[in-house]
Amino acid sequence: MTMQAEALPQMGKHGVCPWWAAYFFDNPVRRIMHPPAKVLGAYVRAGMTALDYGCGFGHYSLGMARLAGPSGRVIAVDVQSKMLDKTMARARRAGLERIIQPRLCESQGIGAPVNLDFALISNALHETPDPGGLLKELFALLKPGAKLLLLEPPGHLGACEFEAEVALAKEAGFEEADRPKVAREMSCLLRKPDGGVDA
Ligand SMILES: C[S@@+](CC[C@H](N)C(=O)[O-])C[C@H]1O[C@@H](n2cnc3c(N)ncnc32)[C@H](O)[C@@H]1O
Repeated sequence: MTMQAEALPQMGKHGVCPWWAAYFFDNPVRRIMHPPAKVLGAYVRAGMTALDYGCGFGHYSLGMARLAGPSGRVIAVDVQSKMLDKTMARARRAGLERIIQPRLCESQGIGAPVNLDFALISNALHETPDPGGLLKELFALLKPGAKLLLLEPPGHLGACEFEAEVALAKEAGFEEADRPKVAREMSCLLRKPDGGVDA
């Protein structure tokens, strides 16, 4: 990515985390606390197209790329180009750059017709300006039966706010499939019903 975001883009209610803050949460301790293969291993398989929305420095994008393998594809979306630059630098070091496609969004959204097998929004939905609109877009892009894992940090966001996000996801058409245990995260696994009508 060459374009640089000079200022923080349009903010959700909680604001957008500055790019340099990612050094505090995407570090070796995170890799022990949230090993991507353990958090995502049940959802991402070889050959899948997966999306990491609000990818930050790519903690989960890289893990998804390992799970999806050379025949798969990971779309890493962020509103800050520095996050994508760092993700791709790490991907190159790991030999995963052919699997990960960075995508810079202006405000939010994917804005392209992709057929997704899986999507993750980790610690990012609360930063987006229109969470309901984003969830509707993801619902339309996911294949019937495909899953969306929503993770949010409890220190940052109350349980009620998280449940409000889950309610927005249900309004978008998702059904709740599970509440998988992820250390120090509020989590909800959502599913697009088979044969569901796109939003
Ligand atoms: C707290 S970080 C989480 C990063 C990563 N998902 C993780 O779990 O390590 C939130 C990320 O969401 C991105 N973000 C915030 N608002 C966004 C928006 N409207 N569209 C896309 N990404 C956004 C931020 O730039 C940041 O990289």
